[in-house]
Amino acid sequence: MRRHRASRTVSDVGEQIQPVRGMNDVLPEAIGAWQYFECRTRELLGAYGYEEIRVPLLEHTELFQRAIGEHTDVVGKEMYTFIDRGGDSLTLRPEATAGIVRALISNGMLRGQRHKLWCLGPMFRHEAPQAGRYRQFWQVDVEAIGCPGPDVDAELIAMSARLWDRLGIAGLRLQLNSLGTPESRRLYRARLVDYLKAHEAQLDSDSRRRLTGNPLRVLDSKNPDMQELIRGAPLLTEHLDAESQAHFAELCATLRAVGVPYEINPRLVRGLDYYNRTVFEWITASTGAQNAVCSGGRYDGLIAQLGGDATPAIGFAMGVERLVALLVAAGRTPAAAAPDVYVVVGGPHSFTPALQLIERLRTERPAVRFELNVGGGALKAQFRRADRSGARLALILGEDEIARGVVALKPLRGSGGQSECPMAQLPAGLDAALAAAGPGA
Ligand code: HAM
Repeated sequence: MRRHRASRTVSDVGEQIQPVRGMNDVLPEAIGAWQYFECRTRELLGAYGYEEIRVPLLEHTELFQRAIGEHTDVVGKEMYTFIDRGGDSLTLRPEATAGIVRALISNGMLRGQRHKLWCLGPMFRHEAPQAGRYRQFWQVDVEAIGCPGPDVDAELIAMSARLWDRLGIAGLRLQLNSLGTPESRRLYRARLVDYLKAHEAQLDSDSRRRLTGNPLRVLDSKNPDMQELIRGAPLLTEHLDAESQAHFAELCATLRAVGVPYEINPRLVRGLDYYNRTVFEWITASTGAQNAVCSGGRYDGLIAQLGGDATPAIGFAMGVERLVALLVAAGRTPAAAAPDVYVVVGGPHSFTPALQLIERLRTERPAVRFELNVGGGALKAQFRRADRSGARLALILGEDEIARGVVALKPLRGSGGQSECPMAQLPAGLDAALAAAGPGA
């Protein structure tokens, strides 16, 4: 039986509370790959002149309705929307672009200025969870605002290609398409609807529903029974206006010139309504049905639609869980750093002097990782913990050492024996012992 939090009673106290479906804990053992991804990405974005922006997780529902579109799956069936205590309809952000644009408008930052921005954080969509598809998932979102392209389109895409290189992820394929202008899309949409209506009997229920609200999304259907019909549909690329055609041709030529391979996928339409002209997706064969790891496009109309001065823009977002899964599969999962020194505390009266000493050493040697034994324990048990910690050196401080003004130092890897170092000769004595102890586990 499904239990709702509101129906819990006092008698439930002590019962385990389950995680929310589709929302994951990222445990310490996985965090190395996440941090590796985040650090490389942060470095690269900085090198291309992108600045970080942080925007709220909650926005007024209307923002997403207007930006993403009423007929999209995201707005129609996937948003976490609720009425707050003040009576406002709020929504947990399903994506970051709308919030970033809202922030630029709210802060008066769109009066002819250009912005190159990125943002990392969780997004929320009530989708059917499966491998690679979650209800809370993380994105790195990247936006270049104020340039009409196609030069910026090409640089943005080249930057994403370089990121796969830096991360050590191979085998991603770039798919490109142009959606043209809203006007050319309207004309195309009418032709597509005529075609789909002529074949209505072959449409599945999802596509029938999309036929009135969002017919372009029919082209995105993954249903194998629909593929033949989709292959025969008129192509958007054949209905582009001349300017969009020139924009697309220049983008493709620039990508060829800088050596970024791409495939044109005329059926790539994207699930959010704000796009025009360039759209793209990086896809992988290795994450099953959820194969897009990075997707985006141009949204020249969105800023005016949200009440800002008309400003061209393009961006993309990467799915962090999907990219981290690729990093793990490629063996790029740096282990958590072990401590350098494990501090063994001999007897209850030694703890405060040990803490004082280690705090001083942390100030003098900020790069050294110390793990201080807390919670007491016999020496034997403490040495077992020291061994398991992966530390290279044990620093031992008991009542006897304190009385004599020394510490004992014992290498934990390799063959060196235990020695003593007068406290007055720390931290130099510690440096020497660490150097002699060699690399860690
Ligand atoms: P999107 O295609 O909806 O675009 O999402 C971007 C990426 O987020 C996808 O390629 C995928 O890797 C990841 N993603 C999406 N949904 C899920 C999910 N349920 N679970 C796990 N990962 C997921 C956008 O969000 C646009 N705001 C991108 C953009 C920025 N366009 C212009 N600027």
